[in-house]
Amino acid sequence: MEKTERTEHGAELNIGIDDFRSLSDFIYRKAGIRFEPKKLYFLSKRIQRRMQDLGIETPLEYIRSLRFSDPNGIEFQNLINLLTVNETYFFRDFPQLQSFAEHCLPELTARKSSRGDTVLRILSAGCSTGEEPYTLAIILMEMLDNIKGWQVEILACDIDLNVLGKARKAVYEARSVKDVPPEYMPRYFNKNPEGSHSLKNEVKRMVRFEHINLAEKGMLRQQGTFDFIFCRNVLIYFDDLSRKQMVDRFYVALDPGGYIFLGSSESVGRITTGFGIKRAGGHLVYYKE
Ligand SMILES: C[S@@+](CC[C@H](N)C(=O)[O-])C[C@H]1O[C@@H](n2cnc3c(N)ncnc32)[C@H](O)[C@@H]1O
Repeated sequence: MEKTERTEHGAELNIGIDDFRSLSDFIYRKAGIRFEPKKLYFLSKRIQRRMQDLGIETPLEYIRSLRFSDPNGIEFQNLINLLTVNETYFFRDFPQLQSFAEHCLPELTARKSSRGDTVLRILSAGCSTGEEPYTLAIILMEMLDNIKGWQVEILACDIDLNVLGKARKAVYEARSVKDVPPEYMPRYFNKNPEGSHSLKNEVKRMVRFEHINLAEKGMLRQQGTFDFIFCRNVLIYFDDLSRKQMVDRFYVALDPGGYIFLGSSESVGRITTGFGIKRAGGHLVYYKE
């Protein structure tokens, strides 16, 4: 029998350390996300919710049902929807976006135009509720001289189905739009009577959302190659090995001369040495040579 754990707050949990390990290994293998033992309370609370919904009595029974009675991964998806951290907002990490908008984008589009290539492909990997890919769409609308002359494709993906549903609706609360430059608000959003903000259709149309688990080998291969890959504030939830595997896959998915942007605490150079590095404005950026 599993021993009952106590959290630092003294609350009783009905998941033991062995069950925790077994479950966290399972999640790691399937999604690349690593839960350390200090996350026992967090994981337990979420599993309890699933157990209640399913009428399952013990964590062991739940883990068994995940492993052996979930051939299509439906319950695993339900669990993942509860476990992901989806924090995001428009124009997050403004200085990094400035390097993209004012240096990398003009340089890359000038190079492509000079050889008559008018396709521009961007990947927002781990897009959560859509603020990041829509921010990129707004930047393109602001920065490209002749956006109609470009065939723009922004692919945004996430493992969590709930956030993808919200992303497709594109209705945002004040918190999400707090860093949008004020003059952009009326240009790209309609204000709803109860105070939320609906993104205008011309921006929504530029982004295609897909349900993709980045930890699954080959998932990106079907999506073609990209000029820019953004994977910001996603790899922090992965361990070194899955982080490296993922960045290696991004390397393959990036066209030569294309750029990759990770979150400010996630240095590409620390993960892999494959990319070139250069200064773009005040920022160091990584590109495929
Ligand atoms: C903190 S949000 C970051 C959102 C946005 N990129 C940003 O920087 O504001 C991290 C997102 O990564 C997603 N994610 C985590 N593991 C993933 C995986 N294996 N495949 C795809 N998405 C994943 C989560 O569901 C979550 O929505």
